[in-house]
Amino acid sequence: MILEKTVEGVKKQVRQWRAEGLSVGLVPTMGYLHEGHKSLIDRAVKENDRVVVSVFVNPMQFGPTEDLETYPRDIDADCKLCEAAGAAIVFNPEVSEMYAENFTTFVDTTGVTEELCGKSRPIHFRGVCTVVNKLFNIVTPDRAYFGQKDAQQLAVIRRMVRDLNMNVTVIGCPIIREDDGLAKSSRNTYLSKEERQAALVLSKAVNEGKRLIAEGEKDGEVILGKMKAIIEAEPLAKIDYVEMVKWDTIEIHHTADCPVLVAMAVYIGKTRLIDNFIVE
Ligand code: PAF
Repeated sequence: MILEKTVEGVKKQVRQWRAEGLSVGLVPTMGYLHEGHKSLIDRAVKENDRVVVSVFVNPMQFGPTEDLETYPRDIDADCKLCEAAGAAIVFNPEVSEMYAENFTTFVDTTGVTEELCGKSRPIHFRGVCTVVNKLFNIVTPDRAYFGQKDAQQLAVIRRMVRDLNMNVTVIGCPIIREDDGLAKSSRNTYLSKEERQAALVLSKAVNEGKRLIAEGEKDGEVILGKMKAIIEAEPLAKIDYVEMVKWDTIEIHHTADCPVLVAMAVYIGKTRLIDNFIVE
């Protein structure tokens, strides 16, 4: 496996693979890889001849008061995980390699970015779409893999790919959880022991929402109300949002009568965690 720091290095390697008729999968990440990322890499390795994993903490998607500086990093451990999983390249550029001085071009996907995380993180999806677009241009993958934990991100990227006629198939992969239900996330490392326990309210609320819908409840107010009650009972938890939206358009929707995404962002202490489920 190659650790590649330059755009040209990746492009050259991909050109060679293409000349050999090989297919290419891309797993975009910000590193500090865990089982959730590994599940994306495993699937990509199964479905493509060669897999590129990008590891880049993208400053453009962090707001001024967010955790860019403290975001966990461990490129050696990331490379080990990628190599063991069968990736061909880890692409780990410096910020200056990705963003030339006076960088002024952005990809802005509207509508699907207005609710949920888009509301509390106003510049986030512009940063995500811009960097993912750049990664697609650099790697030219046949398929790209994203986790459903960032469900709005998945919807936004699907919309961008459709709207801009990009030649890539976007594949969404299921949320991977710890044994006790907490969705795997690089940000879980921020949690103290007490907060780690408190964070279980997210998956408990998810399970309650799923249970209610499985029993036939369709009223969004009832479903979200019961989910919020679980979270609000935890003193260390503070709700950013708990919402039901249409899965394709990410518009607020009040009834579970079509494919819906039920998503939440909750602060546990200072750490903002997300979780969700989709009702197809
Ligand atoms: O989901 C992430 O880790 C990031 O948002 C992504 C897609 C790698 C873009 O920086």
